[in-house]
Amino acid sequence: MNLLETIIALSYVLAAALFILGIKYMSSPATARKGNLLAAIGMFIAILVTLLDKQIIGYTWIVVGIVIGSLIGAIAARRVQMTGMPQMVGILNGFGGGASALVAVAEFLRLSGTQALPTDVAVSILLSVIIGGVTFTGSFIAFGKLQGFVPGSPIQFPLQNIVNALVLMGAVISSVAIVLFSPAIPVFVIVVALSLLYGILFVIPIGGADMPVVISLLNSFSGLAACATGFVVGNNILIIAGSLVGSAGFILTQIMCKAMNRSLRNVLFSAFGTGDAVAGAAQAKGDKTARSIDAEEAAMIMGYAQSAVIVPGYGMAAAQAQHAVRELAEQLMGRGVEVKFAIHPVAGRMPGHMNVLLAEAQVPYNLLFDMDDINPEFPHTDVVLVIGANDVINPVARYDKSSPIYGMPILDVDKARHIIIIKRSLNVGFAGIDNELFYDPKTTMYFGNAKEKLQELVAEVKKL
Ligand code: TAP
Repeated sequence: MNLLETIIALSYVLAAALFILGIKYMSSPATARKGNLLAAIGMFIAILVTLLDKQIIGYTWIVVGIVIGSLIGAIAARRVQMTGMPQMVGILNGFGGGASALVAVAEFLRLSGTQALPTDVAVSILLSVIIGGVTFTGSFIAFGKLQGFVPGSPIQFPLQNIVNALVLMGAVISSVAIVLFSPAIPVFVIVVALSLLYGILFVIPIGGADMPVVISLLNSFSGLAACATGFVVGNNILIIAGSLVGSAGFILTQIMCKAMNRSLRNVLFSAFGTGDAVAGAAQAKGDKTARSIDAEEAAMIMGYAQSAVIVPGYGMAAAQAQHAVRELAEQLMGRGVEVKFAIHPVAGRMPGHMNVLLAEAQVPYNLLFDMDDINPEFPHTDVVLVIGANDVINPVARYDKSSPIYGMPILDVDKARHIIIIKRSLNVGFAGIDNELFYDPKTTMYFGNAKEKLQELVAEVKKL
């Protein structure tokens, strides 16, 4: 190993260590920024050192790619709203998978004309093409569902599972033929086309609101594709980074499924959820009545309480009400009310959704409590203010085995002395089920858009 190769190898070890440290720091909101920075420095070192590789024959196209990619990335990162982050991550995964597949395609075209493909190279190339291709189109469909370009509700057709299985099998059988017999370009084109098609077919039957789980899974796939590409081009840091992304994405997928008490199989194949566009369509029915209050009354209850727990949910994100929530918390604490925030692991529509929004509004981290820590406190809490949360506080999850959310751990809001719920109506949330808590004698509904209702509430608390 000459000096340059030694420098490259050592720099890759340093970059890998920074990636791992970065992920470790990202596990807490207090250190997440530091984690992000360390991982970014690791990636910078990895890119810089890779550019020293003597196999590079020219820098022109590399520079063009870096300039165009950086420009698009910088503009997108500045312009995207917090609520648009799942879509943004979806697109990034798609590009990651697409890039890995493109490198593998280029390598196939380069090698297939000159020599018989060694088995290990052929397998790596085909894995990269299949996983990368599925990630590319699947991610764009997931993006389309979240952005409203593709219908959010599950798209189904007869014999769907059989058709999907045949398409995937077609890609695998063609790949086996390439490995065993010859690197024929027409067969390779079939592999590419079927992989791209499978990405579309795989995601369309999944409900729009399950897309964050799908995006997390596709994130894992993009890592695996990069890892396979690392083997194709013989680059160790790509193998390491790909494996880290692959495993982190898969662990996150598992955590999300567990917090919803659903299996990955159920998320992928049960066409659960309706898509948010229509999720609010069902109205509560029957002779149950819910009591409603206005801002003045809500301010009296909250302003004179000793302890208050705020429970944010998807509605807070949809209304962009996080800054108004922070102002309310400040006002209440200024009056001597003990204020805490209760964070459910799957509140909202993406992992850490509530934490990210509250951090953006500069709510101090020490006011945020995870479900397991806050649940024992509800029986001693004077008032709980629920802001656009529904499923994560639905007591039905505890006892009704026929409910789609049965077994999902919930925030024990119903055990508090008084519950105020801000939402626009008695409509259902993501799981599409009624919530008995709205009709509990201890509950009062404060109807309206979360941001406006909170602003009115803050104004009334100031008057007390
Ligand atoms: P949901 O159960 O979806 O309820 C949100 C509620 O917010 C709705 O009932 C809606 O009622 C209200 N809302 C919507 N826009 C509003 C606005 N502008 N102002 C006020 N209220 C508004 O939310 P949740 O309790 O946060 O539960 C999350 C659900 O998403 C769970 O079922 C979870 O399994 C699922 N999920 C989560 C994730 C992750 S990782 N977080 C991923 C996939 C699925 P109105 O229409 O009456 O206003």
